[in-house]
Amino acid sequence: MTQTSSASSSPESACLQQTLRPQVQAFSAYVPGLSIAEIMERHGLAQVIKLASNENPLGASPVVMRRVRESAGSAFRYPQAGTPRLRKAIAAKLGVTPEMIVPGNGSDEIIDLLIRVRARPESEHFLAFSPCFSIYTLQSALQGVAARQVPLNPDFSFPFEQLASLATPQTALAFVTNPDNPSGHAVPAQAICQFVESLPHSCIVVVDEAYVDFALPVETYSMLPHLQKYPNVVVLRTFSKCYGLAGLRLGYGVMHPWLADALMRVRLPFSVNLLAEEAGLAALEDDVFYAETVRVVAEGREQLTAGLTALGCNVQPSLANFLLFRLPAGCALTARQVFEALLARGVIIRPLESYNLPDALRVSVGTAEENAVFLDALEAVLGNRS
Ligand SMILES: Cc1ncc(COP(=O)(O)O)c(C=O)c1O
Repeated sequence: MTQTSSASSSPESACLQQTLRPQVQAFSAYVPGLSIAEIMERHGLAQVIKLASNENPLGASPVVMRRVRESAGSAFRYPQAGTPRLRKAIAAKLGVTPEMIVPGNGSDEIIDLLIRVRARPESEHFLAFSPCFSIYTLQSALQGVAARQVPLNPDFSFPFEQLASLATPQTALAFVTNPDNPSGHAVPAQAICQFVESLPHSCIVVVDEAYVDFALPVETYSMLPHLQKYPNVVVLRTFSKCYGLAGLRLGYGVMHPWLADALMRVRLPFSVNLLAEEAGLAALEDDVFYAETVRVVAEGREQLTAGLTALGCNVQPSLANFLLFRLPAGCALTARQVFEALLARGVIIRPLESYNLPDALRVSVGTAEENAVFLDALEAVLGNRS
């Protein structure tokens, strides 16, 4: 669906719109999870819980909140160009050099930069499974870079060989999300190493590890320990999930200096704002909050899996901070109807039509209390209880 603004209603605006790049005219904007304020207003509710965007169930770390407050007085200053303190701190945490770190306004920015830095519009393409995180396809389409996709297996596992068989010298990038969104499926890094080796060296393999903190042990699933060996591999990480900073927008890529240098040169100078940088530095120091998040998510995942299974739902095994599930066999309601009925009860989850999975739903792991409210509401919606 093409997004148009109200300005397009006059004939003159419609005419001017035709002058925009064709990729912009055809562009469909990213569909985010609904906001709490939107649902409160729409349904006249005083309380709403949001389990739709895989945010941190514990909120933001108190250490981070204090640092943001302390730094607020510096908001009139530009941040230091290139965020060198943050690059250094992330590098120290991961055991790599600062030259390998590219911080961004969310990992979304790094995805966009990688496409723009590497892929030649109109002649090169990227590889990804289908469905995949929509920012890969959206930002590529905007750049005029075509997608070559292979459907995931029915159990959401990755058909790597099939994907690799689509590669040509014009394959600029390949995206792998591990653990995957929206299924939560994850593979050990060894499987990704084999995939990398089956592709031309000129192809940059982007391994999006937004959720890897929840896949234990992380060293088994992360490509970081293998990065030295592969100069064409990029690992993406974010502060939005395990560090609870989704609203401040902070993510980063880890890559070999030949590529990091290119991204650092072309990025907008201050895309990581001053408060996000301070928050990131503080978050890296707060090991207690990080560990507590991992624990709460692991327990919540079990609570939700058990509760959904007891309601007759089919739950996909997940190593992320969310679960994909399907409604009980013979359920009279569609996934969309269940989603709407939950909204009316003040619970926001995620329908998956935009991932081409109209019969599936995704719920983020919340606190034990939020998970219980969701399960209760779902039980009522499914008619097991009034
Ligand atoms: C797979 C995946 N990659 C990247 C992101 C974006 O993260 P960020 O908030 O750092 O832009 C998300 C966000 O939901 C995601 O699911």
